Order: sequence, then C-alpha cells, then structure tokens
Amino acid sequence: MKVLLATQKPFAAAAVKGIRDILEAAGHEMSVFEKYEQASELEAAVADAEALIIRSDKVTAAVLDAAPKLKIVVRAGAGYDNVDLAAATAHGVVVMNTPGQNANAVAELAVAMMIFMARTQFTPATGSEIQGKTLGIQAFGNVGRLVGAKAKALGMNVKAIDPFLSADQIAAGGAEPETSLESLYASSDYVSIHIPATPETIGSIGYELISKMPKGATLVNTARKEVVDEAGLEKVLEARPDLKYVTDVAPDNYAALREKFGMRVFATPKKMGAQTAEANINAGLAAARQIVSFFETGCVKFQVNK
Ligand code: 3PG
Repeated sequence: MKVLLATQKPFAAAAVKGIRDILEAAGHEMSVFEKYEQASELEAAVADAEALIIRSDKVTAAVLDAAPKLKIVVRAGAGYDNVDLAAATAHGVVVMNTPGQNANAVAELAVAMMIFMARTQFTPATGSEIQGKTLGIQAFGNVGRLVGAKAKALGMNVKAIDPFLSADQIAAGGAEPETSLESLYASSDYVSIHIPATPETIGSIGYELISKMPKGATLVNTARKEVVDEAGLEKVLEARPDLKYVTDVAPDNYAALREKFGMRVFATPKKMGAQTAEANINAGLAAARQIVSFFETGCVKFQVNK
C-alpha cells in the first residue's frame, strides 16, 4: 500500500526512519511530505495515498475528495480536531489517533510553563515557587494524569476534574477530585487545561471562569487555543492585573495581549508540546504499527470515527 507521511511540522529524523522501517518491513511503500505551507499542497500530495499519517495537519473534506484511494488516516498524536470526521466517514475512511504516545512531552511542557511563569520568564525579577501551591487539572486523561504526578513530585497539591471520570477514579489517579469546574478554578493557584477542542469545549473557558481564580493565579494551556474565549481572556486580564496566562497555542490576539499585559502572558511561537524526539518516535511508530495491523488484520483499535 502507498502510505504518505504528511507533516507540516516534521517529525525527528529517527521517527521518520522508524516509521519507514515498520511500513517497509510489512511490504508498504512510504513517501514523506514535510514542511508544506498551503492546504492545497496537501490536496495534491494525497492523490494516490492509500494510508495517511499526519500530526496537526488539516484533513478537510477537500483533502478527502482529492484522495480517492485513501482507506485510513492515523493522527500521530491525541487531538483529532484537525480531521473532518464526518467527511472521512462519508468517504469510508477510517480515522485513528495514537492516544498517550506523546502525553509525557506535553505534560513536561505544562510543568515547565508553570515554573517559567513562577520564575518571571527567567528574568532576574523576584519570582515564586510552585512547591506548596495548588494545581487544578481540567481533564484527567493521559496528559492530565502525568502533569498531576509530576506536580505532586514537586510538592504541589493536586486537584482534578473530568466529566468522564468518577471521584474514585480521579483519586485513584493521585489527585483530589473537585466537585465543579468553578470550584477547581476558584481554589487553584495554577489551572492546567487538558480538554480537547470540540463543539462543546470551544470558547468554554472565558471571563466568568477565569475570574474565579485566586489572587496571583496562572492559567496554563497546552491543549488547544480554541477552548479559551480570547475576548473573555483579554477582559479578565484587564480587570485582574494579578492573573497570568501561558500557552503553547498562541491566541489570535497574542500581539495585543502582549502589548497590553507584557510578561503576564506568554505563548510559544509554534505549538511544541509534543515536539520531542521521544514523542515523535512513540507517536510515529505507533501510527505505523496501527496502519500495518489495519491492512493485515482489519484491526480498528483507536478508530475515532465510529
Ligand atoms: C496532540 O494532540 O497530540 C498534540 O497537540 C500534538 O500535536 P502535534 O503533533 O501537532 O505537535
């Protein structure tokens, strides 16, 4: 089968080699399409692809229309908001993700971002310590649980909430269960966001919720920029000069936020949470193995468009 690895943001060379080794050993043919700029370039690249491995690359209805032989798309990573699932289903294309494979990299970045903000973005100004502070984790999945474990090891008090988990399950994962999102925000010096971008979550973190945070608190977003309502964020940062926002997913109004609020906000120039060699290898090789099993045995474990 012809497998296309299409990554606007390339994987580490070792991951690309590992993916190729797995696919070729199973008799597949792999081509690599990296660092492209326009969506239309992807449309041209998928013409004869039977399987596609992507990262945050957008697989739209137009891309699917341009790929008549496509049978499977594997998003090498967790979030699949970049894939038009309905269009994929309509085209008979199976979509999978590789849950958990890049979670540690994202969790390490979330912890690093807390320390970076606590230590005044590594400037000589007097900062604070995270030990003894309370961290509220919004969604206790693969990344959230790892953030919790690391934060506990650093001496933080860890709380969490997750609409899909019971209080007992959260406690078993090592965090104190919170009863409502409002109380999580109201009682946390740091809130770390780990929800996916869905129609229900987009814009769901706004003025009301953020303004519940205690004095001097920091909101950490290594999830998706869309889940934070940018106008609400701007309004709350204006009203509360003690609050801070750090994000791996620069908001559209970042330049304005930076101008107005300076060091109280920070965004990475390009999404980098999962950009470690280890995460690239884990997610990339898992994607390759899932494609091999799909064609060999019809295995659809991790399918997300059922
Ligand atoms: C994910 O959903 O897996 C992460 O956001 C990583 O995305 P990336 O592969 O584009 O870095």
